[in-house]
Amino acid sequence: MRHHIRFYLGQTLHEVSDLSPTHTVLDWLRDQKGLTGTKEGCNEGDCGACTVMVVRLENGQLTWRSVNACIQFLWMLDGAQLFTVEHLQNPDGSLHPVQQAMVDLHGSQCGFCTPGFVMSMVAYVQNGGGDDPKAINTALAGNLCRCTGYAPIIRAMQQARRIMVQQGNRFDVEKQDIILRLSALQDGSSVDIQNAHGRITLPANSDVLAAVYQESPKATLVAGATDVGLWVTKHLRDLPHVIAVRSAKDLHKLEQRDGGLWIGAAVTYTQALPALATHLPDALETVKRIGSTQVRNAATVCGNIGNASPIGDGPPLFIAASAVLHLRQGDTRRQLPLENYFVEYGKQDRQPAEFIESIFIPDQSAQTIMRAYKVSKRFDQDISAIMAAFAVSINAEGKITEARLVFGGMAGIPCRAKMAEKALVGQKWNTAALEAARTAIQDDFTPLTDMRGSAWYRSTVSANLLTRFFEETAHQGSAQPICLEGWREISHA
Ligand SMILES: Cc1cc2nc3c(=O)[nH]c(=O)nc-3n(C[C@H](O)[C@H](O)[C@H](O)COP(=O)(O)OP(=O)(O)OC[C@H]3O[C@@H](n4cnc5c(N)ncnc54)[C@H](O)[C@@H]3O)c2cc1C
Ligand code: FES
Ligand code: FES
Repeated sequence: MRHHIRFYLGQTLHEVSDLSPTHTVLDWLRDQKGLTGTKEGCNEGDCGACTVMVVRLENGQLTWRSVNACIQFLWMLDGAQLFTVEHLQNPDGSLHPVQQAMVDLHGSQCGFCTPGFVMSMVAYVQNGGGDDPKAINTALAGNLCRCTGYAPIIRAMQQARRIMVQQGNRFDVEKQDIILRLSALQDGSSVDIQNAHGRITLPANSDVLAAVYQESPKATLVAGATDVGLWVTKHLRDLPHVIAVRSAKDLHKLEQRDGGLWIGAAVTYTQALPALATHLPDALETVKRIGSTQVRNAATVCGNIGNASPIGDGPPLFIAASAVLHLRQGDTRRQLPLENYFVEYGKQDRQPAEFIESIFIPDQSAQTIMRAYKVSKRFDQDISAIMAAFAVSINAEGKITEARLVFGGMAGIPCRAKMAEKALVGQKWNTAALEAARTAIQDDFTPLTDMRGSAWYRSTVSANLLTRFFEETAHQGSAQPICLEGWREISHA
Protein backbone atom coordinates (compact mmCIF):
# COMPACT_ATOMS: atom_id res chain seq x y z
CA MET A 1 0.00 0.00 0.00
CA ARG A 2 1.35 3.42 -0.97
CA HIS A 3 0.38 6.57 0.90
CA HIS A 4 1.17 9.12 -1.78
CA ILE A 5 0.48 9.57 -5.47
CA ARG A 6 3.29 9.66 -8.04
CA PHE A 7 3.28 11.31 -11.42
CA TYR A 8 5.47 13.37 -13.74
CA LEU A 9 4.80 17.02 -14.46
CA GLY A 10 6.82 17.52 -17.62
CA GLN A 11 10.11 15.77 -16.83
CA THR A 12 9.86 16.14 -13.05
CA LEU A 13 8.65 13.37 -10.75
CA HIS A 14 6.20 14.47 -8.06
CA GLU A 15 5.23 12.46 -5.00
CA VAL A 16 2.28 14.11 -3.29
CA SER A 17 0.45 13.17 -0.12
CA ASP A 18 -0.73 16.59 1.08
CA LEU A 19 -3.77 16.95 -1.14
CA SER A 20 -7.51 16.91 -0.68
CA PRO A 21 -9.98 14.56 -2.41
CA THR A 22 -11.32 17.56 -4.38
CA HIS A 23 -8.04 19.29 -5.28
CA THR A 24 -8.26 19.87 -9.06
CA VAL A 25 -5.35 19.61 -11.46
CA LEU A 26 -6.08 23.17 -12.61
CA ASP A 27 -5.87 24.68 -9.12
CA TRP A 28 -2.70 22.74 -8.36
CA LEU A 29 -1.01 23.89 -11.57
CA ARG A 30 -1.93 27.53 -11.19
CA ASP A 31 -1.83 28.02 -7.41
CA GLN A 32 0.95 25.67 -6.34
CA LYS A 33 3.19 25.33 -9.39
CA GLY A 34 2.69 28.86 -10.76
CA LEU A 35 1.97 27.40 -14.20
CA THR A 36 -0.63 29.93 -15.29
CA GLY A 37 -0.50 29.07 -18.99
CA THR A 38 -3.40 26.70 -18.32
CA LYS A 39 -6.43 28.99 -18.08
CA GLU A 40 -9.66 28.86 -16.13
CA GLY A 41 -12.66 29.77 -18.26
CA CYS A 42 -15.90 28.03 -17.31
CA ASN A 43 -14.60 25.64 -14.62
CA GLU A 44 -17.13 23.04 -15.77
CA GLY A 45 -15.54 21.19 -18.68
CA ASP A 46 -17.22 23.23 -21.39
CA CYS A 47 -14.74 25.73 -22.84
CA GLY A 48 -11.43 23.82 -23.07
CA ALA A 49 -9.29 26.77 -21.88
CA CYS A 50 -7.83 24.47 -19.20
CA THR A 51 -6.92 21.61 -21.59
CA VAL A 52 -3.77 19.69 -20.66
CA MET A 53 -2.31 16.47 -22.06
CA VAL A 54 -2.10 13.35 -19.91
CA VAL A 55 0.13 10.52 -21.14
CA ARG A 56 -0.35 7.00 -19.82
CA LEU A 57 0.96 3.55 -20.51
CA GLU A 58 -1.95 1.31 -21.52
CA ASN A 59 -1.18 -2.27 -22.53
CA GLY A 60 2.42 -1.29 -23.24
CA GLN A 61 1.40 1.58 -25.53
CA LEU A 62 1.46 5.30 -24.80
CA THR A 63 -1.85 7.13 -24.93
CA TRP A 64 -1.95 10.91 -25.28
CA ARG A 65 -5.20 12.34 -23.97
CA SER A 66 -6.42 15.90 -23.85
CA VAL A 67 -8.48 16.46 -20.69
CA ASN A 68 -10.07 19.40 -18.91
CA ALA A 69 -7.85 20.15 -15.90
CA CYS A 70 -10.70 22.02 -14.17
CA ILE A 71 -12.70 18.83 -13.58
CA GLN A 72 -9.88 16.34 -13.08
CA PHE A 73 -8.73 15.71 -9.52
CA LEU A 74 -5.01 15.73 -8.84
CA TRP A 75 -5.00 12.17 -7.47
CA MET A 76 -6.29 10.97 -10.85
CA LEU A 77 -2.78 11.63 -12.24
CA ASP A 78 -1.24 8.71 -10.31
CA GLY A 79 1.02 6.79 -12.72
CA ALA A 80 0.75 9.37 -15.52
CA GLN A 81 2.84 12.12 -17.12
CA LEU A 82 1.21 15.53 -17.40
CA PHE A 83 2.14 18.11 -20.01
CA THR A 84 0.93 21.70 -20.05
CA VAL A 85 1.56 24.46 -22.57
CA GLU A 86 4.70 25.35 -20.59
CA HIS A 87 6.25 22.00 -21.52
CA LEU A 88 5.95 22.24 -25.27
CA GLN A 89 8.91 24.27 -26.44
CA ASN A 90 11.81 22.43 -28.03
CA PRO A 91 15.05 21.85 -26.09
CA ASP A 92 16.68 24.67 -28.14
CA GLY A 93 13.97 27.06 -26.91
CA SER A 94 12.10 27.27 -30.23
CA LEU A 95 8.33 26.88 -30.33
CA HIS A 96 6.60 23.53 -30.80
CA PRO A 97 5.32 23.22 -34.42
CA VAL A 98 1.72 23.66 -33.23
CA GLN A 99 2.60 26.89 -31.40
CA GLN A 100 4.59 28.15 -34.40
CA ALA A 101 1.72 27.39 -36.79
CA MET A 102 -0.72 29.28 -34.53
CA VAL A 103 1.62 32.30 -34.77
CA ASP A 104 2.23 31.99 -38.51
CA LEU A 105 -1.41 31.51 -39.46
CA HIS A 106 -2.93 34.02 -37.02
CA GLY A 107 -4.69 31.41 -34.91
CA SER A 108 -4.79 33.62 -31.81
CA GLN A 109 -6.13 37.06 -30.89
CA CYS A 110 -6.76 37.70 -27.17
CA GLY A 111 -4.98 34.40 -26.51
CA PHE A 112 -7.13 33.21 -23.61
CA CYS A 113 -8.27 30.07 -25.39
CA THR A 114 -4.95 29.48 -27.17
CA PRO A 115 -3.08 27.24 -24.67
CA GLY A 116 -6.12 24.95 -24.51
CA PHE A 117 -6.36 24.76 -28.31
CA VAL A 118 -2.63 24.10 -28.57
CA MET A 119 -2.82 21.20 -26.10
CA SER A 120 -5.80 19.65 -27.93
CA MET A 121 -3.91 20.02 -31.21
CA VAL A 122 -0.73 18.42 -29.87
CA ALA A 123 -2.72 15.47 -28.46
CA TYR A 124 -4.54 15.11 -31.80
CA VAL A 125 -1.29 14.74 -33.73
CA GLN A 126 0.26 12.45 -31.12
CA ASN A 127 -2.76 10.16 -31.57
CA GLY A 128 -2.11 9.97 -35.31
CA GLY A 129 -4.94 12.37 -36.26
CA GLY A 130 -5.20 13.13 -40.00
CA ASP A 131 -5.67 16.19 -42.21
CA ASP A 132 -9.44 15.83 -42.59
CA PRO A 133 -11.17 19.05 -41.41
CA LYS A 134 -14.07 16.98 -40.04
CA ALA A 135 -11.75 14.96 -37.77
CA ILE A 136 -10.01 18.17 -36.74
CA ASN A 137 -13.38 19.75 -35.91
CA THR A 138 -14.20 16.77 -33.71
CA ALA A 139 -10.83 17.02 -31.94
CA LEU A 140 -11.35 20.74 -31.29
CA ALA A 141 -15.10 20.74 -30.55
CA GLY A 142 -14.35 21.06 -26.84
CA ASN A 143 -12.31 24.25 -27.30
CA LEU A 144 -14.23 27.49 -27.60
CA CYS A 145 -12.78 30.66 -29.07
CA ARG A 146 -14.67 33.91 -28.92
CA CYS A 147 -12.47 36.17 -31.03
CA THR A 148 -10.22 34.50 -33.61
CA GLY A 149 -12.72 32.39 -35.53
CA TYR A 150 -12.02 28.75 -36.17
CA ALA A 151 -10.77 28.80 -39.79
CA PRO A 152 -7.24 30.08 -38.98
CA ILE A 153 -6.99 27.60 -36.10
CA ILE A 154 -7.92 24.69 -38.35
CA ARG A 155 -5.41 25.90 -40.98
CA ALA A 156 -2.76 26.06 -38.23
CA MET A 157 -3.66 22.52 -37.19
CA GLN A 158 -3.23 21.26 -40.75
CA GLN A 159 0.11 23.02 -41.23
CA ALA A 160 1.46 21.85 -37.86
CA ARG A 161 0.43 18.30 -38.59
CA ARG A 162 2.19 18.30 -41.95
CA ILE A 163 5.38 19.62 -40.37
CA MET A 164 5.20 17.10 -37.51
CA VAL A 165 4.61 14.20 -39.90
CA GLN A 166 7.56 15.29 -42.09
CA GLN A 167 10.01 16.37 -39.40
CA GLY A 168 8.80 14.66 -36.23
CA ASN A 169 8.68 16.54 -32.96
CA ARG A 170 10.14 16.33 -29.48
CA PHE A 171 7.56 13.85 -28.20
CA ASP A 172 8.55 11.35 -30.92
CA VAL A 173 12.16 11.64 -29.78
CA GLU A 174 11.19 11.25 -26.12
CA LYS A 175 8.81 8.30 -26.53
CA GLN A 176 11.17 5.62 -25.22
CA ASP A 177 12.12 7.76 -22.21
CA ILE A 178 8.45 8.32 -21.40
CA ILE A 179 7.73 4.58 -21.64
CA LEU A 180 10.62 3.81 -19.27
CA ARG A 181 9.56 6.51 -16.83
CA LEU A 182 5.91 5.45 -16.76
CA SER A 183 6.80 1.74 -16.54
CA ALA A 184 8.79 2.48 -13.40
CA LEU A 185 5.66 4.04 -11.83
CA GLN A 186 3.51 0.93 -12.35
CA ASP A 187 4.07 -0.87 -9.03
CA GLY A 188 0.63 -2.52 -8.96
CA SER A 189 -0.09 -1.30 -5.44
CA SER A 190 -3.20 0.37 -4.08
CA VAL A 191 -2.96 3.90 -2.70
CA ASP A 192 -4.60 5.15 0.48
CA ILE A 193 -4.08 8.72 1.63
CA GLN A 194 -5.68 9.95 4.85
CA ASN A 195 -4.95 13.45 6.03
CA ALA A 196 -6.65 16.52 7.46
CA HIS A 197 -8.41 17.12 4.14
CA GLY A 198 -10.06 13.70 3.89
CA ARG A 199 -9.35 10.28 2.42
CA ILE A 200 -8.39 9.18 -1.09
CA THR A 201 -8.35 5.49 -2.03
CA LEU A 202 -7.03 4.21 -5.33
CA PRO A 203 -7.71 0.45 -5.35
CA ALA A 204 -5.35 -1.58 -7.52
CA ASN A 205 -8.15 -3.98 -8.46
CA SER A 206 -11.88 -4.57 -8.06
CA ASP A 207 -11.44 -6.85 -5.02
CA VAL A 208 -9.80 -4.03 -3.10
CA LEU A 209 -12.44 -1.60 -4.38
CA ALA A 210 -15.27 -3.88 -3.22
CA ALA A 211 -13.70 -4.33 0.23
CA VAL A 212 -12.96 -0.63 0.83
CA TYR A 213 -16.43 0.38 -0.39
CA GLN A 214 -18.02 -2.11 2.02
CA GLU A 215 -16.07 -0.59 4.89
CA SER A 216 -16.99 2.95 3.77
CA PRO A 217 -20.33 2.76 1.96
CA LYS A 218 -20.77 6.54 2.21
CA ALA A 219 -17.61 7.18 0.18
CA THR A 220 -17.99 8.66 -3.31
CA LEU A 221 -17.02 6.51 -6.28
CA VAL A 222 -15.20 8.55 -8.90
CA ALA A 223 -14.47 7.24 -12.38
CA GLY A 224 -13.71 10.02 -14.92
CA ALA A 225 -15.08 12.86 -12.71
CA THR A 226 -16.83 14.55 -15.64
CA ASP A 227 -19.97 14.59 -13.50
CA VAL A 228 -18.44 14.48 -10.01
CA GLY A 229 -15.98 17.29 -10.90
CA LEU A 230 -18.91 19.65 -11.35
CA TRP A 231 -20.37 18.75 -7.95
CA VAL A 232 -17.17 20.30 -6.61
CA THR A 233 -16.55 23.24 -8.94
CA LYS A 234 -20.20 24.31 -9.34
CA HIS A 235 -21.99 23.04 -6.24
CA LEU A 236 -18.98 23.44 -3.93
CA ARG A 237 -19.53 20.00 -2.47
CA ASP A 238 -17.05 18.48 -0.11
CA LEU A 239 -16.15 14.82 -0.71
CA PRO A 240 -14.68 13.45 2.52
CA HIS A 241 -13.70 10.06 1.05
CA VAL A 242 -13.27 9.29 -2.63
CA ILE A 243 -12.70 5.82 -4.08
CA ALA A 244 -11.24 5.71 -7.58
CA VAL A 245 -12.71 3.35 -10.15
CA ARG A 246 -10.14 3.78 -12.91
CA SER A 247 -7.15 2.70 -10.77
CA ALA A 248 -8.58 -0.87 -10.70
CA LYS A 249 -6.73 -2.58 -13.54
CA ASP A 250 -9.24 -5.41 -14.02
CA LEU A 251 -12.08 -2.91 -14.60
CA HIS A 252 -10.40 -1.78 -17.84
CA LYS A 253 -11.58 -4.89 -19.71
CA LEU A 254 -13.20 -4.24 -23.05
CA GLU A 255 -13.90 -7.46 -24.86
CA GLN A 256 -16.15 -9.27 -27.27
CA ARG A 257 -17.14 -12.65 -25.82
CA ASP A 258 -20.15 -14.83 -24.96
CA GLY A 259 -22.29 -13.22 -27.66
CA GLY A 260 -21.76 -9.60 -26.78
CA LEU A 261 -19.56 -6.69 -25.82
CA TRP A 262 -18.30 -6.31 -22.24
CA ILE A 263 -17.36 -2.82 -21.12
CA GLY A 264 -15.63 -2.61 -17.73
CA ALA A 265 -16.35 0.21 -15.29
CA ALA A 266 -13.03 1.93 -15.99
CA VAL A 267 -13.42 2.09 -19.78
CA THR A 268 -13.84 5.59 -21.18
CA TYR A 269 -16.00 6.55 -24.13
CA THR A 270 -12.83 7.22 -26.15
CA GLN A 271 -11.58 3.70 -25.43
CA ALA A 272 -14.99 2.11 -26.10
CA LEU A 273 -15.66 4.02 -29.32
CA PRO A 274 -14.01 1.57 -31.79
CA ALA A 275 -15.80 -1.41 -30.19
CA LEU A 276 -19.13 0.45 -30.12
CA ALA A 277 -18.60 1.39 -33.78
CA THR A 278 -18.51 -2.31 -34.67
CA HIS A 279 -21.16 -3.37 -32.19
CA LEU A 280 -23.76 -0.62 -32.61
CA PRO A 281 -22.72 0.98 -35.92
CA ASP A 282 -25.95 2.92 -36.35
CA ALA A 283 -25.49 4.63 -33.01
CA LEU A 284 -21.92 5.73 -33.63
CA GLU A 285 -22.69 9.31 -34.66
CA THR A 286 -24.61 9.78 -31.42
CA VAL A 287 -21.83 8.38 -29.23
CA LYS A 288 -19.36 10.68 -30.97
CA ARG A 289 -21.50 13.61 -29.84
CA ILE A 290 -21.26 12.81 -26.11
CA GLY A 291 -19.46 15.82 -24.65
CA SER A 292 -16.20 16.70 -26.41
CA THR A 293 -12.93 14.87 -27.04
CA GLN A 294 -11.66 16.03 -23.63
CA VAL A 295 -14.85 14.82 -21.91
CA ARG A 296 -14.89 11.45 -23.71
CA ASN A 297 -11.19 10.98 -22.87
CA ALA A 298 -12.11 10.99 -19.17
CA ALA A 299 -15.78 9.97 -19.04
CA THR A 300 -16.55 6.29 -18.54
CA VAL A 301 -19.46 4.46 -20.12
CA CYS A 302 -20.46 3.09 -16.69
CA GLY A 303 -20.15 6.53 -15.03
CA ASN A 304 -22.74 7.73 -17.53
CA ILE A 305 -25.06 5.06 -16.10
CA GLY A 306 -23.98 5.59 -12.48
CA ASN A 307 -24.83 9.26 -12.78
CA ALA A 308 -28.39 8.23 -13.73
CA SER A 309 -29.22 11.54 -15.37
CA PRO A 310 -32.56 11.51 -17.21
CA ILE A 311 -30.78 13.25 -20.10
CA GLY A 312 -27.65 11.06 -20.28
CA ASP A 313 -27.06 9.75 -23.79
CA GLY A 314 -25.70 6.28 -22.99
CA PRO A 315 -28.64 4.82 -21.02
CA PRO A 316 -31.35 5.07 -23.75
CA LEU A 317 -28.93 3.66 -26.29
CA PHE A 318 -27.89 0.72 -24.15
CA ILE A 319 -31.46 -0.01 -22.98
CA ALA A 320 -32.54 -0.17 -26.64
CA ALA A 321 -29.68 -2.65 -27.17
CA SER A 322 -30.98 -4.82 -24.25
CA ALA A 323 -27.87 -4.23 -22.15
CA VAL A 324 -27.36 -5.95 -18.81
CA LEU A 325 -25.57 -4.38 -15.83
CA HIS A 326 -23.19 -6.45 -13.74
CA LEU A 327 -23.26 -5.17 -10.16
CA ARG A 328 -21.05 -6.14 -7.25
CA GLN A 329 -21.30 -5.63 -3.48
CA GLY A 330 -18.42 -7.16 -1.57
CA ASP A 331 -18.18 -10.70 -2.99
CA THR A 332 -21.82 -10.79 -4.07
CA ARG A 333 -22.57 -10.23 -7.73
CA ARG A 334 -25.86 -9.85 -9.55
CA GLN A 335 -27.11 -9.00 -13.03
CA LEU A 336 -29.83 -6.55 -13.87
CA PRO A 337 -31.36 -5.51 -17.19
CA LEU A 338 -30.22 -1.92 -17.52
CA GLU A 339 -33.79 -0.63 -17.88
CA ASN A 340 -34.61 -1.90 -14.37
CA TYR A 341 -31.68 -0.02 -12.83
CA PHE A 342 -33.48 3.34 -13.12
CA VAL A 343 -36.34 3.30 -10.61
CA GLU A 344 -37.38 6.95 -10.42
CA TYR A 345 -35.67 10.33 -10.59
CA GLY A 346 -32.68 10.18 -8.20
CA LYS A 347 -33.32 6.53 -7.27
CA GLN A 348 -31.60 3.49 -8.73
CA ASP A 349 -31.75 -0.21 -7.91
CA ARG A 350 -28.36 -0.11 -6.19
CA GLN A 351 -27.62 -1.29 -2.66
CA PRO A 352 -25.21 0.48 -0.28
CA ALA A 353 -21.59 -0.31 -1.28
CA GLU A 354 -22.75 -1.85 -4.54
CA PHE A 355 -21.05 -0.72 -7.73
CA ILE A 356 -21.19 -1.36 -11.46
CA GLU A 357 -18.44 -3.76 -12.51
CA SER A 358 -19.33 -3.85 -16.19
CA ILE A 359 -22.06 -3.56 -18.75
CA PHE A 360 -22.82 -6.31 -21.26
CA ILE A 361 -24.34 -5.37 -24.62
CA PRO A 362 -25.57 -8.45 -26.49
CA ASP A 363 -24.88 -8.78 -30.22
CA GLN A 364 -27.80 -7.39 -32.21
CA SER A 365 -29.62 -9.92 -34.35
CA ALA A 366 -29.67 -9.55 -38.14
CA GLN A 367 -33.45 -8.96 -37.88
CA THR A 368 -33.00 -5.87 -35.73
CA ILE A 369 -32.92 -2.34 -37.10
CA MET A 370 -31.45 0.22 -34.75
CA ARG A 371 -31.07 3.98 -34.79
CA ALA A 372 -30.19 6.62 -32.20
CA TYR A 373 -30.95 10.34 -32.37
CA LYS A 374 -29.60 13.08 -30.17
CA VAL A 375 -31.57 16.33 -30.26
CA SER A 376 -29.75 19.27 -28.71
CA LYS A 377 -29.53 22.99 -29.28
CA ARG A 378 -25.91 22.80 -30.48
CA PHE A 379 -24.50 19.92 -32.50
CA ASP A 380 -21.32 19.56 -30.44
CA GLN A 381 -20.69 19.61 -26.73
CA ASP A 382 -24.29 19.94 -25.64
CA ILE A 383 -26.58 17.99 -23.35
CA SER A 384 -29.59 16.44 -25.08
CA ALA A 385 -33.06 17.93 -24.92
CA ILE A 386 -34.20 14.51 -26.10
CA MET A 387 -32.21 11.38 -26.74
CA ALA A 388 -33.99 8.57 -28.55
CA ALA A 389 -32.78 5.06 -29.34
CA PHE A 390 -34.97 2.65 -31.27
CA ALA A 391 -34.51 -1.07 -31.94
CA VAL A 392 -37.14 -2.93 -33.93
CA SER A 393 -36.96 -6.59 -34.92
CA ILE A 394 -38.77 -7.69 -38.06
CA ASN A 395 -39.35 -11.31 -39.09
CA ALA A 396 -39.26 -12.90 -42.54
CA GLU A 397 -42.95 -12.02 -43.10
CA GLY A 398 -42.14 -8.37 -42.49
CA LYS A 399 -43.90 -8.27 -39.10
CA ILE A 400 -42.48 -6.50 -36.07
CA THR A 401 -41.69 -9.08 -33.40
CA GLU A 402 -40.11 -6.78 -30.83
CA ALA A 403 -39.87 -3.02 -30.40
CA ARG A 404 -37.71 -1.12 -27.94
CA LEU A 405 -38.33 2.62 -28.20
CA VAL A 406 -36.28 4.32 -25.50
CA PHE A 407 -36.14 8.01 -24.62
CA GLY A 408 -34.08 10.26 -22.44
CA GLY A 409 -35.38 13.73 -21.57
CA MET A 410 -39.04 12.68 -21.65
CA ALA A 411 -39.38 11.63 -17.98
CA GLY A 412 -37.44 11.59 -14.71
CA ILE A 413 -35.51 8.51 -15.86
CA PRO A 414 -34.52 7.09 -19.22
CA CYS A 415 -37.44 4.84 -20.17
CA ARG A 416 -39.25 2.91 -22.86
CA ALA A 417 -42.36 4.12 -24.66
CA LYS A 418 -44.34 0.98 -23.84
CA MET A 419 -47.64 2.08 -25.42
CA ALA A 420 -45.94 3.00 -28.69
CA GLU A 421 -44.04 -0.31 -28.62
CA LYS A 422 -47.33 -2.20 -28.14
CA ALA A 423 -48.81 -0.37 -31.11
CA LEU A 424 -45.99 -1.69 -33.29
CA VAL A 425 -45.59 -5.32 -32.25
CA GLY A 426 -47.38 -7.74 -34.61
CA GLN A 427 -47.76 -5.05 -37.30
CA LYS A 428 -45.92 -4.59 -40.57
CA TRP A 429 -43.53 -1.64 -40.52
CA ASN A 430 -45.73 0.65 -42.62
CA THR A 431 -47.42 4.05 -42.34
CA ALA A 432 -50.41 2.60 -40.46
CA ALA A 433 -48.09 1.20 -37.78
CA LEU A 434 -46.18 4.47 -37.66
CA GLU A 435 -49.36 6.50 -37.15
CA ALA A 436 -50.53 4.12 -34.40
CA ALA A 437 -47.16 4.50 -32.63
CA ARG A 438 -47.20 8.31 -33.05
CA THR A 439 -50.62 8.45 -31.40
CA ALA A 440 -49.75 5.99 -28.63
CA ILE A 441 -46.56 7.80 -27.69
CA GLN A 442 -48.60 10.79 -26.51
CA ASP A 443 -49.91 8.53 -23.71
CA ASP A 444 -46.44 7.27 -22.80
CA PHE A 445 -45.03 10.52 -21.44
CA THR A 446 -45.95 13.75 -19.70
CA PRO A 447 -42.74 15.64 -20.39
CA LEU A 448 -41.54 18.68 -18.48
CA THR A 449 -40.81 22.15 -19.73
CA ASP A 450 -37.28 23.32 -18.97
CA MET A 451 -34.52 25.39 -20.53
CA ARG A 452 -33.81 22.68 -23.09
CA GLY A 453 -37.35 22.43 -24.46
CA SER A 454 -41.02 22.86 -23.67
CA ALA A 455 -43.39 19.97 -22.97
CA TRP A 456 -45.03 20.64 -26.36
CA TYR A 457 -41.65 20.57 -28.10
CA ARG A 458 -40.70 17.29 -26.47
CA SER A 459 -44.04 15.62 -27.29
CA THR A 460 -43.86 16.79 -30.89
CA VAL A 461 -40.23 15.83 -31.39
CA SER A 462 -40.63 12.38 -29.83
CA ALA A 463 -43.38 11.55 -32.35
CA ASN A 464 -41.38 13.12 -35.19
CA LEU A 465 -38.35 11.01 -34.33
CA LEU A 466 -40.52 7.94 -34.89
CA THR A 467 -41.37 9.31 -38.32
CA ARG A 468 -37.70 9.86 -39.03
CA PHE A 469 -36.90 6.33 -37.94
CA PHE A 470 -39.64 5.09 -40.26
CA GLU A 471 -38.40 7.19 -43.19
CA GLU A 472 -34.87 5.92 -42.71
CA THR A 473 -35.70 2.25 -42.32
CA ALA A 474 -39.12 1.20 -43.65
CA HIS A 475 -38.25 1.21 -47.34
CA GLN A 476 -35.45 -1.26 -46.76
CA GLY A 477 -37.68 -4.25 -47.44
CA SER A 478 -35.31 -6.31 -45.32
CA ALA A 479 -34.22 -5.60 -41.79
CA GLN A 480 -30.59 -4.95 -42.75
CA PRO A 481 -29.49 -1.54 -41.49
CA ILE A 482 -28.52 0.90 -44.21
CA CYS A 483 -26.11 3.80 -44.03
CA LEU A 484 -27.55 7.27 -44.31
CA GLU A 485 -24.53 9.10 -42.93
CA GLY A 486 -24.78 12.28 -45.02
CA TRP A 487 -28.50 12.67 -44.49
CA ARG A 488 -28.16 12.16 -40.79
CA GLU A 489 -25.47 14.75 -40.51
CA ILE A 490 -27.30 17.60 -42.16
CA SER A 491 -30.54 16.87 -40.39
CA HIS A 492 -29.25 16.34 -36.89
CA ALA A 493 -31.52 18.90 -35.26
C1 LIG B 1 -18.76 19.48 -20.64
C2 LIG B 1 -19.53 18.21 -20.43
C3 LIG B 1 -20.30 17.71 -21.46
C4 LIG B 1 -21.02 16.54 -21.26
N1 LIG B 1 -21.77 16.06 -22.30
C5 LIG B 1 -22.47 14.93 -22.13
C6 LIG B 1 -23.26 14.42 -23.21
O1 LIG B 1 -23.28 14.98 -24.31
N2 LIG B 1 -23.98 13.29 -22.98
C7 LIG B 1 -23.96 12.65 -21.77
O2 LIG B 1 -24.63 11.64 -21.63
N3 LIG B 1 -23.22 13.11 -20.74
C8 LIG B 1 -22.49 14.23 -20.90
N4 LIG B 1 -21.75 14.71 -19.86
C9 LIG B 1 -21.82 14.04 -18.54
C10 LIG B 1 -20.68 13.03 -18.26
O3 LIG B 1 -19.58 13.26 -19.11
C11 LIG B 1 -21.14 11.59 -18.43
O4 LIG B 1 -22.23 11.31 -17.61
C12 LIG B 1 -19.99 10.62 -18.15
O5 LIG B 1 -20.15 9.42 -18.85
C13 LIG B 1 -19.78 10.34 -16.66
O6 LIG B 1 -18.72 9.42 -16.54
P1 LIG B 1 -17.54 9.65 -15.49
O7 LIG B 1 -16.64 8.48 -15.62
O8 LIG B 1 -16.91 10.98 -15.69
O9 LIG B 1 -18.35 9.61 -14.14
P2 LIG B 1 -18.04 10.27 -12.73
O10 LIG B 1 -18.22 11.74 -12.82
O11 LIG B 1 -16.77 9.78 -12.19
O12 LIG B 1 -19.24 9.62 -11.90
C14 LIG B 1 -20.59 9.88 -12.24
C15 LIG B 1 -21.52 9.19 -11.23
O13 LIG B 1 -21.45 7.79 -11.40
C16 LIG B 1 -21.01 7.17 -10.18
N5 LIG B 1 -20.15 6.07 -10.59
C17 LIG B 1 -19.00 6.14 -11.31
N6 LIG B 1 -18.55 4.90 -11.56
C18 LIG B 1 -19.41 4.04 -10.97
C19 LIG B 1 -19.47 2.61 -10.86
N7 LIG B 1 -18.56 1.82 -11.41
N8 LIG B 1 -20.51 2.08 -10.18
C20 LIG B 1 -21.47 2.86 -9.63
N9 LIG B 1 -21.46 4.20 -9.70
C21 LIG B 1 -20.44 4.78 -10.37
C22 LIG B 1 -20.32 8.26 -9.39
O14 LIG B 1 -20.33 8.01 -8.01
C23 LIG B 1 -21.18 9.45 -9.77
O15 LIG B 1 -22.37 9.43 -9.04
C24 LIG B 1 -20.97 15.87 -20.02
C25 LIG B 1 -20.17 16.36 -18.98
C26 LIG B 1 -19.45 17.52 -19.19
C27 LIG B 1 -18.58 18.05 -18.10
S1 FES C 1 -12.13 25.98 -17.57
FE1 FES C 1 -13.56 25.63 -19.17
S2 FES C 1 -13.24 23.53 -19.58
FE2 FES C 1 -12.02 23.87 -17.87
S1 FES D 1 -8.26 34.14 -29.14
FE1 FES D 1 -9.62 35.16 -27.80
S2 FES D 1 -10.96 33.57 -27.13
FE2 FES D 1 -9.77 32.65 -28.65
